Amino acid sequence: MGLCYSVFTTIKLAFAAWFLVWLSRLIYSLIVYSFIWERASIPLETSPFIEDQRRVANFDFLDDSNLQNRLIARAIPNQRLVKVFGIENSFTTTNIKTHRRFYRNVGRALHGRRAENWPRFFTAASTALNLILAQFADARDSLPLAVLTRELVFLTTLYSFFEVNIENVSLHDARVATDAINDMWVHSKTIAQPDVLQERRRQLNAALLRMLPNEFPCSAATHPMNTILPAYETMWRIVLLTFISAGFRDVDQETADQFREVIQGVPECFADGNSDNVAAMAMNFSKEGLRLYPPTKRIYRAFLDESQVMADIQKCHRDPDIWPNPEQFRPSRFLPGEFTADMERAYLPFSIKPHKCPAADKFAPHAIIILVVVLAKSLGTLESGATVRFGNDTLDRDRSALLPSGRLDTEDWTLQMKDTSV
Ligand code: HEM
Ligand SMILES: *[C@@H]1O[C@H](CO)[C@@H](O)[C@H](O)[C@H]1NC(C)=O
Ligand SMILES: *[C@@H]1O[C@H](CO)[C@@H](O)[C@H](O)[C@H]1NC(C)=O
Ligand SMILES: *[C@@H]1O[C@H](CO)[C@@H](O)[C@H](O)[C@H]1NC(C)=O
Repeated sequence: MGLCYSVFTTIKLAFAAWFLVWLSRLIYSLIVYSFIWERASIPLETSPFIEDQRRVANFDFLDDSNLQNRLIARAIPNQRLVKVFGIENSFTTTNIKTHRRFYRNVGRALHGRRAENWPRFFTAASTALNLILAQFADARDSLPLAVLTRELVFLTTLYSFFEVNIENVSLHDARVATDAINDMWVHSKTIAQPDVLQERRRQLNAALLRMLPNEFPCSAATHPMNTILPAYETMWRIVLLTFISAGFRDVDQETADQFREVIQGVPECFADGNSDNVAAMAMNFSKEGLRLYPPTKRIYRAFLDESQVMADIQKCHRDPDIWPNPEQFRPSRFLPGEFTADMERAYLPFSIKPHKCPAADKFAPHAIIILVVVLAKSLGTLESGATVRFGNDTLDRDRSALLPSGRLDTEDWTLQMKDTSV
């Protein structure tokens, strides 16, 4: 009887256990399927326009988008950079080995200890700005913002990628180099003036040789401009535009409050990881600057017959069907509840895989906001009594007007520091 009872109990228990396993499997697969179902039911191609731009950026427009074909499609439209600057890097080469070597070296610099030591980067940038401001001691009521931002970003680029001691560099050389690069870029887009370009290139190389003696002699593929161009050219414009947008244009109360906190909290908030709320907020200022004023406004690709296609990044970033009030500078739009899947697909400041910018996730957004805060701490903001003049009636009168962001549009912008106003 006892034996019979325990056998019966065992069978009952085994049945119960089997039932539980079956039930949990059922629940598990229901969860998994509903998840897949939900993902599948999110319309991935809500905007044909955005999807078209993505296909250009990720090279899917090519019939066969292997690495060799991708390099060719990118190099063809970038040949003017070879002609003007004599560079040979991932943007201009069709040689897989050259691309890989350059990409590896840049990656090492981007993830090196120096680049990620943000408080030290902040100190280096502050030192640079103090030295630069000493040059303009007589012009504190009319500081040339573009010149000043270019020199600041150029010097910190030398610090980040070439371990240059900023106090050791002649500011005159930094000025010559940044003026030359700007001129060469402008000339590269207009009618070629070979003698002007030649002279500018000679000046640039002479200045670089004095600032970076260890980098010379070099070949096209090891020339320091290979790194300086993608790092510095994109950065100086976005730093200037983000500084002006956050500090001197109309923003809502929340953004104004956040910017005050960011100015207070950077760089300490970056000292130990990015768990900090102020750190996330600070990164969102960089992200919003990059949305409204993407330094790479358009990405050009070419077919083998040299006909071109283009991804209009700026248009994706300002599409009113995707971004509410697209012309407003508002970093909180990156809050999780507000940032939609459509926005994520439309947000392309660093392009996308398989050639997404290696500076996208850490280096660029950190460096941008740190440089913006260095400018704000030292030059001030509208709130702290500084003034910016744009040399353009529309922009001076209407603080909500979108800023023009072409290469030459910022040349006349000046800043008056608080202590010099009458
Ligand atoms: C705000 C700053 C920056 C922006 C907006 C930016 C933007 C971009 C974009 C749009 C691309 C894709 C280009 C294409 O496929 O045609 C790219 C690629 C690249 N960027 Fe950046 N970039 C920035 C900073 C930097 C910095 C600091 C470096 C470091 C030197 C860098 C190095 C590169 C490299 C090596 C690639 C090629 C990646 C590949 O071929 O896989 N960028 N960047
Ligand atoms: C840089 O500084 C070191 C000392 O820190 C000095 O010996 C060297 O001459 C300086 N180089 C230049 C180019 O000024
Ligand atoms: C900033 O953006 C991130 C998402 O990228 C979000 O998680 C975070 O809450 C935002 N923070 C603030 C203060 O806007
Ligand atoms: C002033 O700026 C506005 C807005 O960017 C632009 O449309 C206009 O052409 C500029 N005016 C002049 C005279 O440059």
